[in-house]
Amino acid sequence: MAARTDFTPLTREALTPLLRSTAFGRTLHILPVTGSTNSEAMALAQRGAAEGTVVLAEEQTAGKGRLGRRWHSPAGENLYCSIIMRHQTGVNDISTWLSWVPLQSALAVARAVRQVTALEPQLKWPNDVMIGSRKLGGLLCESGPVGPAGTCVVVGIGLNVNSPPDSFPVDIRETATSLAAETGRQIDRANLLVTILSEMERCAEALRSQSPDTLMESYGGQCSTLGRRVRVLLAADESLEGLAESIGRDGSLRILPAGPSDRIVEVRSGDVVHLR
Ligand code: BTN
Repeated sequence: MAARTDFTPLTREALTPLLRSTAFGRTLHILPVTGSTNSEAMALAQRGAAEGTVVLAEEQTAGKGRLGRRWHSPAGENLYCSIIMRHQTGVNDISTWLSWVPLQSALAVARAVRQVTALEPQLKWPNDVMIGSRKLGGLLCESGPVGPAGTCVVVGIGLNVNSPPDSFPVDIRETATSLAAETGRQIDRANLLVTILSEMERCAEALRSQSPDTLMESYGGQCSTLGRRVRVLLAADESLEGLAESIGRDGSLRILPAGPSDRIVEVRSGDVVHLR
């Protein structure tokens, strides 16, 4: 376990020379503290900010997770960033593009983590980045209204980088992890961030040029939910148990329910629990 926390600040001077992406991260807003980088990025998107614009914060006071949860966002230890994506003409129409942005973005983050640390993260559907059964990071994608600059999605990425494992709040201590906890060393956040931005730029290109079948194949290859028995929490008092059989052409999770039925149920959103 890492004994020390890396507080080397993320600055424009440190990040810009490291960037390998053409557009992603070239417009960079770095905030010492904010409520939520997603909210900041959405405000910029509504004023017409271009694809690849990034909002980054050292700390969030109201970090948003999926399904109305909070995202633990202590200062200086981890990555909290939001990236503006815009639909552009390509092989996928807007609705296909919207379906695949969250899943392909999670794949981009997992690829970046692999390049920087040699760990082998997997994806829990739809977009949790996992090391084994522990959650390393998550994505919150929020779509904005169609404006003059076109349809946009803010991709919010929260990644536990240098948080010591015993610093997590009690309710997630048994289920969360960080890169420092997994590797036993401090991870250079600047290097990780620029690698994520390169992979997100590749992801934007894949969303423009690859068919749903190809997107399905690349995502499915990294998704540890497939082939497992799962429980999906669909609403406060509604859940579904069964075998996670495949990913649909629209990114949905196709489940064969437990019991006599042989009718596949397609789930488009929900919280998945991997059962043993
Ligand atoms: C999840 O619940 O798994 C998604 C977590 C997403 C957290 C990130 S941190 C940066 C961005 N800003 C937010 O308020 N949320 C996302």
